[in-house]
Order: sequence, then structure tokens, then C-alpha cells
Amino acid sequence: MSKYTQDKNYIYYKNTDIPKNKLNIRNQMILEAKERKLLLGGYEYFHNNLSESTIFDEKYFKELHRKTFGKLYDFAGKYRTVNISKGYITFCQVRFLEQTSKDIFKKLEQDGYLKYYFSKPKEEFAAKISFYMCELIALHPFFEFNGRITRLFFDMIAAYNGYEYIDYEDTLKMVGGDNKFIKASIDCMAGNENAMYRIILKGLKKAE
Ligand SMILES: Nc1ncnc2c1ncn2[C@@H]1O[C@H](COP(=O)(O)OP(=O)(O)O)[C@@H](O)[C@H]1O
Ligand SMILES: [Mg+2]
Repeated sequence: MSKYTQDKNYIYYKNTDIPKNKLNIRNQMILEAKERKLLLGGYEYFHNNLSESTIFDEKYFKELHRKTFGKLYDFAGKYRTVNISKGYITFCQVRFLEQTSKDIFKKLEQDGYLKYYFSKPKEEFAAKISFYMCELIALHPFFEFNGRITRLFFDMIAAYNGYEYIDYEDTLKMVGGDNKFIKASIDCMAGNENAMYRIILKGLKKAE
């Protein structure tokens, strides 16, 4: 059974939620453990490489995905080539994906890639992050790991600005196939960023 309602066998082993992977791991728990380890490695690598010259552009965003999950997946760092829906939501159609992504990152560039929030009010920073978070959620550019890579992206932006990684607390905890982050994502796609803003605002804390 797959949570995807379209093209579900494209990157997954037949009739499973398990993406085809370079290690040919077919056990979900083993694969998830491997993914957790790779994600931690990604956090470490990109955090160590943060500098004043870091630019949070589209190239960087794709690089987060490629470097973090490239050991395991051929689709790492590449945008998807099929349409994807979850629940009643259809994410950005493939034919608009490249252009929509360019538009989002152009806007982010005009916002200075959110590099100048060190001494601005937290509320302003949270509003910007939740705006772009919603944009990237609706884009859903990768086959998999959109949630994790999008959060990694904003965690690096947060760290750059002297904040801890955003603390999502219990919002990522699955309750019956759902969680507060997903609910906020659904609101986002309906044009309501409030819930996402509250999650981000609550999760932002200045580093000591
Ligand atoms: N029903 C839904 N409606 C809107 N967005 C959703 C829905 N389900 C999941 N999402 C969004 O998609 C993300 C999960 O995408 P996915 O590519 O599977 O990333 P990951 O594997 O890192 O969780 C969630 O974090 C959420 O933002
Ligand atoms: Mg997933």
C-alpha cells in the first residue's frame, strides 16, 4: 500500500513505500535507520561548511539533497519527473516545476537569502521562514525527503543567523498517519500560513 496516489511505482519497489536504493535494502526499519544516519551526516557536513559566503540558493538546496542522500538514492539532488499527490493535495505539476522553483529562489534572492536576520525581531524571521517553507512544501520538488530537506535548509538558515536548529517538538510526531506539521502544510497549500508560522515561531531560539 502506498501513500502516493499517482505514479506510485516509479521510484518504489513494486507495491511498497520503499524507494529503490543503491544498497537494495528492502526492510523499512533498516532503511529508515540508514536515512536517519545520513540525515545527521548532512546536518554535520552543511553546518561545518556554513560561512559568510554561503548562498542559500536553488543550487544549495539541491546540494543538500544530493550530498545527504546520494549514497543511497539515484534520485538524490534531482527534481522529480512525475506528478505527486498526497491525500487530496497535488503538488506543483512537473511541467511548472523548474520555472516555479526559479521564481521562489528569485524571490528569496530579493530577500537577501534570509541572511540578515541576526539582529532583527524573531517574528519577522519566523514570518519569512514560514512563507518560504510553504512555498517549498507546495513545490515538493523531490521524489522523497521534501520535508526533511526543506527543514534542513531552514535549519541552516537559522544557524547562519545565530539560532539553534528549529525545534519542531511534537509537531513531527505521527498520530494516525498525520502530524501537526502535515496539517500546517495542508493549511499552507490552502493559502493559510498561520499554523506554520506558529510552529516556526515557537521553534526558533537564539543560540547561546
Ligand atoms: N496531505 C498532505 N498535504 C500537503 N502536504 C503534505 C501532505 N502530506 C505530506 N505533506 C508535506 O510533504 C512532506 C513530506 O514529503 P516527503 O517528500 O515524504 O518528505 P519526508 O520523507 O522528508 O517526510 C511533509 O513534511 C509535508 O510538508
Ligand atoms: Mg517521505
